[in-house]
Amino acid sequence: MCGIIGYIGKKEIVPLLLTGLKRMEYRGYDSAGLSILDSSSELKSIKKKGRVNDLELASMDLNVKGIIGIAHTRWATHGYPNDINAHPHFDTKMNISLVHNGIIENYSIIKQKLIQEGYSFRSDTDTEVLAVLIERFYDKVKDLEYAVRLALNEVNGTFGIALISKYEPNKIIAARRGSPLILGIGDNEYLVASDASAIIEHTKNVIYLNDDEMAILSPDGFITKTIANKKVKSEIHQLEFDLEQIEKGGFEHFMLKEIFEQTQTIRDAMRGRLLVDEGNVKLGGLRSVRDRIRNARRIIITACGTSYNSALVGEYLIEQLAHIPVEVEYASEFRYRSPILFEDDFVIFISQSGETADTYAAIQEAKQRGATCLGIVNVVGSSIARATDAGIYIHAGPEIGVASTKAFTSQLTVLSLLALYLGRMRNLSTIDGIKIAKELEALPDKVQMILNGASEIERIANEYYQSRNFLYLGRGYNFPIALEGALKLKEISYIHAEGYPAAEMKHGPIALIDKNMPVVVVAPKDEIYEKVVSNIEEVKAREGRVIAITNYGNTDLEKLVDHCIYIPDTLPLLTPILTVIPLQLLAYYTARLLGRDIDKPRNLAKSVTVE
Ligand code: G6P
Repeated sequence: MCGIIGYIGKKEIVPLLLTGLKRMEYRGYDSAGLSILDSSSELKSIKKKGRVNDLELASMDLNVKGIIGIAHTRWATHGYPNDINAHPHFDTKMNISLVHNGIIENYSIIKQKLIQEGYSFRSDTDTEVLAVLIERFYDKVKDLEYAVRLALNEVNGTFGIALISKYEPNKIIAARRGSPLILGIGDNEYLVASDASAIIEHTKNVIYLNDDEMAILSPDGFITKTIANKKVKSEIHQLEFDLEQIEKGGFEHFMLKEIFEQTQTIRDAMRGRLLVDEGNVKLGGLRSVRDRIRNARRIIITACGTSYNSALVGEYLIEQLAHIPVEVEYASEFRYRSPILFEDDFVIFISQSGETADTYAAIQEAKQRGATCLGIVNVVGSSIARATDAGIYIHAGPEIGVASTKAFTSQLTVLSLLALYLGRMRNLSTIDGIKIAKELEALPDKVQMILNGASEIERIANEYYQSRNFLYLGRGYNFPIALEGALKLKEISYIHAEGYPAAEMKHGPIALIDKNMPVVVVAPKDEIYEKVVSNIEEVKAREGRVIAITNYGNTDLEKLVDHCIYIPDTLPLLTPILTVIPLQLLAYYTARLLGRDIDKPRNLAKSVTVE
């Protein structure tokens, strides 16, 4: 969370920084700010509560020419979102300007010490403490880079930082520990940013900084080293996406664009991997662990948010097809409860961004205990992708809408491939493998059929968007889909929604049901369909309003429920990839009718790089 960008080069700097911030706004959007070193090496800064647009309006009068600048869009951790707490933060003399993503955990102890030494503070943030600490060291050593290194040695927690100073006006100093930072290497221009989306417009050549590394950018080049001042050899990578992929392309919102991209993204997740005739799967990213994973004693999958919901589907898939015991756990719980792991355990980390702090920290926990770590990640080169021993990219392309949609179905697709791969290495027959592979191959066209019916879902949203609560029910493979449907609605419409295993309804949620309660029931025709119908009967007996997701042709259900949304037939284990799509659309249209800020819902951020 929080997006930072720094630039050294010849382009007009204020618009460049603002555009960079807009591209990263999904990382945080409660306040924003920027600092420029002007031609006489004076620091010019502006900070504003609100969106990057508010900063843009405020900076209209900031007529500065300069070649060096930094900027930040914030998701508040310490201190209310207001102009003062917005980044950049400064030292007491206003000669150093710092932007920061992460949390300085020991900031209050350091702040007390600095106050005792006579330093004063303007904001409530942890970041300002770091800026003043750098000042304290600079006053002693008169060398900016050295002062930064000394200060970073004193802090605990996480940081991705960029700073500029009138003391040494020809450089940006950047450093990371636990928060992402990417360097962009252009033609006589250099950038640093939290996210490749802010860099792609200028260059595709990037360096991913590792933890405890820093970079010093100047008009003539850059150097990278460790914070402990040891040389590092940084490899230049090529970004694999284009600018148009991070633009709306005619859709009203990124979320809608991303929902409609799923026909393609599911196909991309399978591309080159599915061997239909052999009923098998090729996963190049697992080559190095192939023999060991065949004999895995247990698989643990850990993730947060929507990725956690996909992990739950993964549990059902892997246990059914490969007969390997699977446990699923929130990364935030896993990392703090001293999990018992064995050397023949595999831990899978699922993350769209590849930067979620809890998931990333869980990798260190698993590694320390000797388990093999696999990543299922979207963002190529992200921290989680690099920290795991092996992995599978989902190749969904940049996902900008804060509420995850296409990454979820791509995660499900990859988990299905993985389950098939593991199953075929163990006991799954070729015939069964071919059946599953053929159904997987057919999924994108089936997704398109559901998307073609979007207007019907919009009509249903029209009927229920003023409801205060929603209940989502599902069983088996579609229990996690009930959770995901409820999560989508909560995130973007702010309507309270709960997901439940359908049969658990009678142990609590049934008390909530009356004629004002819409209940969304995921009821594909599978082996537990009849049981789900009984649960629907229980809702109807209490006058609840039921929206059911079921298969085309299952007209029987129409008599019982208020609305049916249809999906094409597939194997029960693949239904989640289809059933979730109407739920994404229902959440989207509901939020649109309520006039919500769909791509940037309040209080959320896309990439949660703090605990
Ligand atoms: C945030 C996002 C969610 C996402 C979760 C996990 O809460 O708003 O959409 O599911 O983080 O993110 P990850 O990038 O690790 O999948």
